Amino acid sequence: MNALERDYVCHHLWQAGSSGQGALVSRVAPQVRGAVTNGAVGMHGALMERLPALEIVGVFGVGVDAVDLDTARNRGVRVTNTPDVLTDDVADLAMALLLAANRRLCALDRFVRSGAWESGKGLVAPHSLRGKTVGIFGFGRIGRTVARRLEPFGVELRYFQPRAVEGSNVPRADSLKALARVSDYLVVCAAATEETRNAVDAGVLAALGEQGVLVNVARGSIVDEPALVDALRSGKLAHAALDVFADEPHVPPALLALENVTLTPHVASMTLETREAMGRLVIANLAAHFAGRELLTPVV
Ligand code: 8YV
Repeated sequence: MNALERDYVCHHLWQAGSSGQGALVSRVAPQVRGAVTNGAVGMHGALMERLPALEIVGVFGVGVDAVDLDTARNRGVRVTNTPDVLTDDVADLAMALLLAANRRLCALDRFVRSGAWESGKGLVAPHSLRGKTVGIFGFGRIGRTVARRLEPFGVELRYFQPRAVEGSNVPRADSLKALARVSDYLVVCAAATEETRNAVDAGVLAALGEQGVLVNVARGSIVDEPALVDALRSGKLAHAALDVFADEPHVPPALLALENVTLTPHVASMTLETREAMGRLVIANLAAHFAGRELLTPVV
């Protein structure tokens, strides 16, 4: 933010509150040549249409599903994102969620804090990770990094995405359902697109099975949330560890009420180092654009 403030005249839509945003946009629209947003907020086509001088949208995040890319293309607005710099930390959180879910870490923390340990309550042993199969849905930069992280854990690895990844020794399943069927753990790392919307549905969750664990560090829209709640509640799925939700920051109360979930507030890329690097990349793209140079990480 400091670097942005130093180099540009900034108008902060996020500080205007929902009631003041319309007025702010009307007031500054003719001057706005660049916009910065994050992966979750993105940018609607309707807002782009209200900014006649808009040339570039810099997304602080790798996912651009919340940006209306068709409108950007039609209006000749460039869009950039922040790939690569966040891959390691997002993969780390996927690992943290997988291990936390597998060993029921949050429940154990509650068990100690509540005094249940001291009062002699019993515990049910979870399954070991070793020897199990982890399926990765979406085998791009993040999915492949999760696979590399998992190699020393003694698990079988599989992945699914429509296009096969050349040169990978991880076998590809024929479909998402086939992946879920052979997996004990399913880690969602796919991009949110029309094709992946609600792709993890009741059928996929049933294929993952009663001992199955779902991890999602991608986008909430990829998982059918009501079907997930249903599966977790009825014991058709053992556990879900989720960093992302369909309607952030709202988390369905039905999900909050469950014991067999591990929930984090969309923080997979949130370390100081990575957020700094993402910020620098957003700014480097803006600077390149306004200097007439090639964009570093263009999407559109
Ligand atoms: C960010 C993200 O948390 O990269 C993405 O697509 O969703 C995350 O890295 C987000 O953009 C910041 O709110």
